[in-house]
Amino acid sequence: MTNNHDFIANFAAKILIMKISIIGSGAMGSGIAQVLAQSGHEVLLTDTRQEALDKAKSGLQSTMTKLVEKAKLTQEIADAILQRISFDTQVSAMSGSALIIEAIVENIEIKKKVFAEVEEVVDANCILASNTSSLSITSIASACKRPERVLGIHFFNPAPLMPLVEIIPALQTSKEITDQVYGWVKSWGKVPVICKDTPGFIVNRVARPFYGEAIRIYEEGFADFSTIDQSMRDLGFKMGPFELMDMIGNDVNFAVTESVFAAFFYDQRFKPSLTQKKLNEAGWLGRKTGRGYYSYADQATIPPPQDNASLKQRIGMRILVMLINEAYDTFYLRIASAEDIDLAMTKGVNYPKGLIAWGKELGLKSCVDLLDELYHEYGEDRYRCSPLLRNLTR
Ligand code: NAI
Repeated sequence: MTNNHDFIANFAAKILIMKISIIGSGAMGSGIAQVLAQSGHEVLLTDTRQEALDKAKSGLQSTMTKLVEKAKLTQEIADAILQRISFDTQVSAMSGSALIIEAIVENIEIKKKVFAEVEEVVDANCILASNTSSLSITSIASACKRPERVLGIHFFNPAPLMPLVEIIPALQTSKEITDQVYGWVKSWGKVPVICKDTPGFIVNRVARPFYGEAIRIYEEGFADFSTIDQSMRDLGFKMGPFELMDMIGNDVNFAVTESVFAAFFYDQRFKPSLTQKKLNEAGWLGRKTGRGYYSYADQATIPPPQDNASLKQRIGMRILVMLINEAYDTFYLRIASAEDIDLAMTKGVNYPKGLIAWGKELGLKSCVDLLDELYHEYGEDRYRCSPLLRNLTR
């Protein structure tokens, strides 16, 4: 017989002293380790390379020092967080974990191999998750003997700061596992959304036109990078598409665009651009190489945007309507709920408003009219209006 207190104690024990192992101690793995240790879990960070573990350890130590200096944490709490994180190169060290989160290189064959290996050392009820940005969770699950306990738990970079976590059940995942993970993610102070296992999940699918349409407008000679960036900042976005691509890295952004395009069987709507390909060929990857769409050399300045309010408004609306169309189509295809799509874009990539709500605010009819105008002008599939968006205006 368990009374209410037993129930609460068991519940607290489950939440507080879970052992969670993370595979891959790079940018994402170490950020996720911090989130989980801050929530009280016993965290094991693993990597095949000892130097990666050493780097993660010193990175976490300096993050904690900064948080103490900024008075966000006391020294005592920071020390306790660091003590909860251990480091190991051996897969066998993961035994006894309630949850595994994989954050290794973005390669399907390597991920499948690692999942199959890990399954041999963990308990039957351990949940196995991947932090992949673009690979099929269903395909990863297929490498496991118990695929019903495999799912995607997709954090955003930097994991300690971005609230969003996309939870992606594979075709094989059980409802109980998905529900359980949803509760855990909430208990870590994050905002979970549930998303079908489809290319780009929510954020990396819905955000594609932010970059693609901006580049297209540039290619057509309507405006330069800084005018297009300013048009989006005028709408409330923290950064314009070109400055953001330069920050993310043009290699990373182009790889996501190419992978989403291929995964959608080359739907023209997701077509990558030659401009971005050329930048990659030149090695102009953005801030990290000192040059991308803009130059980051000493003394370099960003050219001022054109002083043309109607041009900027037209550019902003064209990109925004493409984003709204993608958000409605994602809802139309039952990839996620309308609420989750709006949460994803505001909590994962800091959009000033949810796109479903923004469409309603602008008036869905005006969105459809602008898409139709673009479609008639160009005759290209990328401008096709989502059937849902059109139906909602009838
Ligand atoms: P990273 O390159 O910084 O770190 C990957 C780490 O995994 C490296 O330390 C490497 O030594 C280790 N590793 C590689 N193969 C391994 C294996 N077989 N076993 C154990 N460790 C192994 O990569 P990052 O950026 O942290 O990305 C990791 C994953 O998270 C990828 O799937 C990526 O798509 C995803 N992701 C990345 C985001 C980002 O903005 N960087 C955002 C959200 C997801």
